[in-house]
Amino acid sequence: MADYDYDVLVIGAGPGGYVAAIRAAQLGLRTACAESRETLGGTCLNVGCIPSKALLHASELFHEAHSGALAQFGIKIEGASLDLDAMHGQRREAVKGLTGGIEFLFKKNKVDWLKGRAAFTAADSVQVGDRTVRARNIVIATGSSVTPLPGVAVDGKRIVDSAGALELAEVPKHLVVIGGGVIGMELGSVWLRLGAKVTVVEYLDQILPGMDGEVRREATKLFKKQGFELRTSTKVTAAEASDTGVRLTVEPAAGGAAETIEADVVLLAIGRRPNTEGLALDKAGLATNQRGQIEINHDFATSVPGIWAIGDVAPGPMLAHKAEDEGIAVAENIAGRTGIVNHDLIPSVVYTTPEIAGVGLTEEQAKERGEIRVGKFPFLANSRAKTNKDTDGFVKIIADANNDRVLGVWIVCSLAGTMIAQAVQAMEFGATSEDIAYTCHAHPTHPEALKEAAMAVLGKPIHM
Ligand code: FAD
Ligand code: NAI
Repeated sequence: MADYDYDVLVIGAGPGGYVAAIRAAQLGLRTACAESRETLGGTCLNVGCIPSKALLHASELFHEAHSGALAQFGIKIEGASLDLDAMHGQRREAVKGLTGGIEFLFKKNKVDWLKGRAAFTAADSVQVGDRTVRARNIVIATGSSVTPLPGVAVDGKRIVDSAGALELAEVPKHLVVIGGGVIGMELGSVWLRLGAKVTVVEYLDQILPGMDGEVRREATKLFKKQGFELRTSTKVTAAEASDTGVRLTVEPAAGGAAETIEADVVLLAIGRRPNTEGLALDKAGLATNQRGQIEINHDFATSVPGIWAIGDVAPGPMLAHKAEDEGIAVAENIAGRTGIVNHDLIPSVVYTTPEIAGVGLTEEQAKERGEIRVGKFPFLANSRAKTNKDTDGFVKIIADANNDRVLGVWIVCSLAGTMIAQAVQAMEFGATSEDIAYTCHAHPTHPEALKEAAMAVLGKPIHM
């Protein structure tokens, strides 16, 4: 039938959806993108990656200026004070600029933005607002939202989710974060730097699940030094909010005596779950798996021909760059090209101070697969880090003991998020630790620590 309105209809304009739509249009396909938010860019640009990084950056600058930390560089600042309204203002500006930028890119690439919530009416048609649209291909990129915790009702005032924690009108005296994952540590850092006491209640025995064990231990040590109170192996059983604060009831995860914690504000950050509610997947012949995700094959195709899924709504890490790469790949597959994402090499970064980044296997995972060699180098021995008085952390390289192939790289460092790109690229090209060790690195730079860690895999680093 030739009466399709579009070759491609993308549902959701987050980093997965908007990138898929732009790429599809670039490939000559008639493309539309349905988005129910008032602005494009999804969770990431509106209430996720971008506003959180805007506050992380600003709060770090405030902390540097206010804490006296710059005195060691001969910079004395007296009377530094916080203008929280202005800090929020620059966050909103950053979001506005970038979401507006996507709108411009849609126009430039002739992607139609269909404003409103989309729901399937059949496998090849979707209702958006009062309009029904037929498309040859439909890409589901509806993202994810906060996982609720029974007994802890988010009210947006005293008990907030990550979006609410970005908007607090004043610095809480005591912020309790439920969940010691990425959001908890990043947004906890923001408010800690701005003067709050921050307690993190984590169910597991360590924070930052999924990361290399040694990295998690180092992070714990550094966060405690910064003033975080970390209550691991602890569960929240009730939360009672009043006009003035929240009374939380907690007890050991394994069971035991309950106690109460008083907080001004509670941030609930125990993970996110895929957005499929209201999509009427059944009308398209689709269902979700046990984790609420839409299953796909290697090409991002669902079990229904012509329907595809990418990003947080599909299996894999819930990360913007994973969603973006899948967006490009799915558009290329729809256009008859070969779109591939190497899911073994998706880097992850926690944007705290220092940053924490990793790619590939953890030491624990690598050991399960065979014999390994590990090389480590501390920033205490890196000349640039020493000069900058920025010596927290290390680089750790995990290599296959038989062929020296790099299996995983973990970095704790102020610049870890930037440095990890080199490791991802090396691993994408199948590098050995020797390849990295014999690659010339500019001096004096933090990435020299990566070279030294690679030297440590096979023998000895020079500067240690
Ligand atoms: P989303 O960005 O969630 O976008 C989906 C869009 O679909 C939404 O705009 C939604 O309104 C729309 N939608 C849903 N259902 C419908 C419907 N039926 N009809 C129409 N529209 C619909 N990741 C990183 O890689 N780096 C970071 O630094 C980072 N920081 C984060 C900080 C926070 C506080 C949070 C919450 C997340 C962060 N993430 C980060 C995760 C990142 O935001 C997500 O992985 C990413 O946004 C997923 O992209 P997506 O396109 O799959 O979905
Ligand atoms: P998360 O999965 O990173 O961490 C959730 C934490 O909550 C875990 O440590 C878990 O053990 C704990 N938890 C679960 N149930 C609990 C309970 N009942 N009581 C106490 N603790 C409990 O999820 P988070 O931090 O909510 O972030 C969601 C997603 O957003 C992440 O998976 C990440 O992919 C993405 N994100 C990425 C960022 C980045 O790339 N820098 C920044 C922020 C979010």
